[in-house]
Amino acid sequence: MSIRRAVPADAGALAVLAERCFREAWDQFNTPANMAAYCAANFTVELVRDDLERPNVRYLLAQREQEAVGYLRMVPGDAPRCVRATAPIEISRVYVLRGWHGCGVGAELLRNGLEEAMRAGHDNAWLAVWQRAPRALAFYRKWGFETVGTARFALGSDVQDDFVMQRAL
Ligand SMILES: CC(C)(COP(=O)(O)OP(=O)(O)OC[C@H]1O[C@@H](n2cnc3c(N)ncnc32)[C@H](O)[C@@H]1OP(=O)(O)O)[C@@H](O)C(=O)NCCC(=O)NCCS
Repeated sequence: MSIRRAVPADAGALAVLAERCFREAWDQFNTPANMAAYCAANFTVELVRDDLERPNVRYLLAQREQEAVGYLRMVPGDAPRCVRATAPIEISRVYVLRGWHGCGVGAELLRNGLEEAMRAGHDNAWLAVWQRAPRALAFYRKWGFETVGTARFALGSDVQDDFVMQRAL
């Protein structure tokens, strides 16, 4: 497996991957209308290209034999008040195609992301994760993240409860 920084030319493939991962994970818990609204607001090729072009947003792409199977998105900057840090970075998404879950792809993405964040001088990584996502919570705990607060996340018209987790770097 290879991990590399995604660039604007990856927008088409990344948009397809991101929507597919998101739907595989959350379709079963949400209404079609809320899922469609969220995907339209986040995963069009144009929106993903704009995001890739933002200087402060970093994407890592995991590939197995040329197939994109997972990605990580991270953004330095503001953190919720419960996160104690001087130079925080948000791990805003880690997603792996369902067929590849449990194969170490998420671990490789996170390891690379945290190493890159450390090299860039960040002292803390934080994230928000749905309180009803036990596998994701187990994955982050295994990586040393601890819960420090709660947050709200809007999926279409549905407001959901997240945990805020952090890990010193
Ligand atoms: C959470 C996620 C990124 C983990 O990636 P992954 O490639 O499956 O994780 P790894 O194979 O590196 O690590 C597996 C560990 O993650 C957890 N895990 C998460 N999902 C799992 C799954 N479907 N099968 C097995 N283990 C899973 C377990 O704690 C496991 O620990 P173990 O190795 O001690 O059994 C991935 O399962 C995923 O994309 N889930 C759906 C989307 C999501 O919840 N994203 C995070 C919230 S934004």
